[in-house]
Amino acid sequence: MITHEQIPDFYDWLSRYVQLSNWLSYRDRFAAFTMHKRLDVPTQAGGASGRTAGLEYVNDRLLEVAGLPPEPRVLDAGCGFGGTVFHWQRRIGGRYDGLTLSRVQLRVARREARRRGIEDSCRFHLQSYDAALERDFDAVVAIESLIHSADLDRTVPNLASALRPGGVLLILDDMATGDLDRARPAEAALLRAHWGCARYPTQEDYRAALRRACLTLIHEEDLSPLMVPRDEHILDRWEGIYSKLHRAIPLSPVRTVVSAFLGGIALERLHGSGDVHYRLVVARNDGTGKA
Ligand SMILES: C[S@@+](CC[C@H](N)C(=O)[O-])C[C@H]1O[C@@H](n2cnc3c(N)ncnc32)[C@H](O)[C@@H]1O
Repeated sequence: MITHEQIPDFYDWLSRYVQLSNWLSYRDRFAAFTMHKRLDVPTQAGGASGRTAGLEYVNDRLLEVAGLPPEPRVLDAGCGFGGTVFHWQRRIGGRYDGLTLSRVQLRVARREARRRGIEDSCRFHLQSYDAALERDFDAVVAIESLIHSADLDRTVPNLASALRPGGVLLILDDMATGDLDRARPAEAALLRAHWGCARYPTQEDYRAALRRACLTLIHEEDLSPLMVPRDEHILDRWEGIYSKLHRAIPLSPVRTVVSAFLGGIALERLHGSGDVHYRLVVARNDGTGKA
């Protein structure tokens, strides 16, 4: 059982595992410095991203819809290893702050910023997105991080408060189409137990939280068709193996990583059945409310 308080440890162990798995898949421990879903997009022949195009796609797509001014000031709320920050900084310059709860991710991100000689413009902090934030950002981006919010009605207004008038909040996450506790109680319980997710937010929960934060919804997009779903019988087999491992090996690192997989399988089933979609929502601070 992963509780909300254990999210930092969860991401520390997962981040170590991801480095190993990236090495096995890409011969590169950090593979674009991302920790989000790989999507099925054409590899740009000869392009810099090549093998990791499926990992970098969302960084490009979000940048495209963000419509940022030159040299923007950006906050990444749940930055992982800093992949989005590094990608955007390389493409358009600007100043960036990344927040993570994981010390392992923080070390990797800061070291990479130093290696690139951009540590003054790309700063990383061990800080919750629910804590008090700096102001006047042109954009706040949250990729697969708000799923861990204990309360969207606290998190979203806090992120909105960091935007300058005209600034945009971009959220990319797995969003339920309805109440999962009612429609799919088994998977909802697995996500709660293994990913420390509170009530799994619906698309409407996100829209309502944006409205209550006085932000104007300006763009919505469903990236689910780009996902690469596995067959149910493959999911059944892996779920059986991981469940046995979870019971048999009481070591924290193993249990944490296996937990992440079990939660991931529940999520894949929900994507397969259409109960969850991978959605991008973008909302603007029009300067009309308290945001
Ligand atoms: C699945 S990873 C995604 C990382 C990154 N956005 C990416 O696309 O590679 C989720 C991230 O959310 C962060 N996170 C979760 N809850 C958080 C919170 N309350 N405050 C800040 N970061 C949080 C984790 O530390 C982790 O970096």
